[in-house]
Amino acid sequence: MRMYDIIEKKRDGCALSDEEIRFFIDGYTNGVIPDYQASALCMAIFFRGMTDREISVLTDAMARSGDMIDLSRFGTLSADKHSTGGVGDKTSLIVMPIVAALGAKVAKMTGRGLGHTGGTVDKLESIPGYQIALESERFLSQVEEIGISLVGQSGNLTPADKKLYALRDVTATVNSIPLITSSIMSKKLAAGAKNIVLDVKVGSGAFMKTPEDGKALAEKMVSIGKLCGRNMTAVLTNMDVPLGHNIGNALEVQEAVAVLKGESRGDLREVCVVLASNLIRMVFDLTAEEAQRRAVDALDSGAAFAKMKEWIGAQGGDIRYLDDPFLFPTAAFSDTVKSPVSGYIQKMDAERIGTVSVMLGAGRETKDATIDYSAGIILRKKVGERVEAGEILCTLYTNREAALADAAEHYLAALTIGDTAPEAQPLIYEIVR
Ligand code: URA
Repeated sequence: MRMYDIIEKKRDGCALSDEEIRFFIDGYTNGVIPDYQASALCMAIFFRGMTDREISVLTDAMARSGDMIDLSRFGTLSADKHSTGGVGDKTSLIVMPIVAALGAKVAKMTGRGLGHTGGTVDKLESIPGYQIALESERFLSQVEEIGISLVGQSGNLTPADKKLYALRDVTATVNSIPLITSSIMSKKLAAGAKNIVLDVKVGSGAFMKTPEDGKALAEKMVSIGKLCGRNMTAVLTNMDVPLGHNIGNALEVQEAVAVLKGESRGDLREVCVVLASNLIRMVFDLTAEEAQRRAVDALDSGAAFAKMKEWIGAQGGDIRYLDDPFLFPTAAFSDTVKSPVSGYIQKMDAERIGTVSVMLGAGRETKDATIDYSAGIILRKKVGERVEAGEILCTLYTNREAALADAAEHYLAALTIGDTAPEAQPLIYEIVR
């Protein structure tokens, strides 16, 4: 078999055979197929697309390119969640303890932030003592004992995706539904859970900018997961506006704790209840109403917060920080951004706001940069709210004093303030099963 012929076949719009797809993934992972041929094939896939059969074989080949986590000891109770990435998205910190408190088994591998979007690993590492790397037997025995563990993605999970994603990033081939589907679903399949909820973000802060594109991606991922024997649900959620009020690692942990303690209501809690109830609906085969009732009850009774403390404590985290979030160190510098005019906030460019948090130190500008856990933004006004000239729009936190002025300017540029109240946007666009 020759890579040249595979590229030519896809270039001409034909479907690749199972063997051809596996030949490509094996050869590329092992370094036998060079980057230039792999990028030519990615570009051909970008323009020609793939059939469902091709996507499912590609996903399976990528999933098998490295370690496959075996969660069979948890039967049908294993549960996982994936977000396509957003700003202020701390839902895993809330959803996973809710479902674990209700009896699901959460053995979750999670990632670091990239670009303007945050990552759960960085948020968890802002809790002093939290051990993100556990040896695999300890990881699984913690799940057996207390129902939940979240660790960083193991070094050898889906190496094909690691190589391909880096290549796509520099060859303008990220934004292709077959390639995104296989990238995300290969990681989920390798991570082993039987029940998977996908949070497909849609809007200015997300990868998919329109509900139509989000739905097309969601449908593909759900169908591939089902073909591979998993129970799947995708929830299309709004990412035109950052989720909740806090952006930045320790700030997001504090907000997640406030939701788990019942001190904070609003969009964040609402999205978490929808994600958690869709996950336990699959795990326990419940009606949508019963699943929602149980998820809300786990929050309101304090069971989910108790589970979070048990989990963080088991992984070495200092749970005094959860009882009293004021213990988290605050950034040396802070400033408020005030509205120059009176009016309604009509739009927030969530991606730009995510970039402001990176400027403040909350994210990485390069892959190996270190993160300032105390940096970030607290939003005081969001889309739809009225502001008067001089009123505070947000507070910026950083240890880089020189970044403040620029960050404030960029924050203001990310907002559209006008005379009329905007039409309310849905928080949940659709659920795909
Ligand atoms: N997230 C991923 O993991 N892969 C993609 O291709 C896009 C988003």
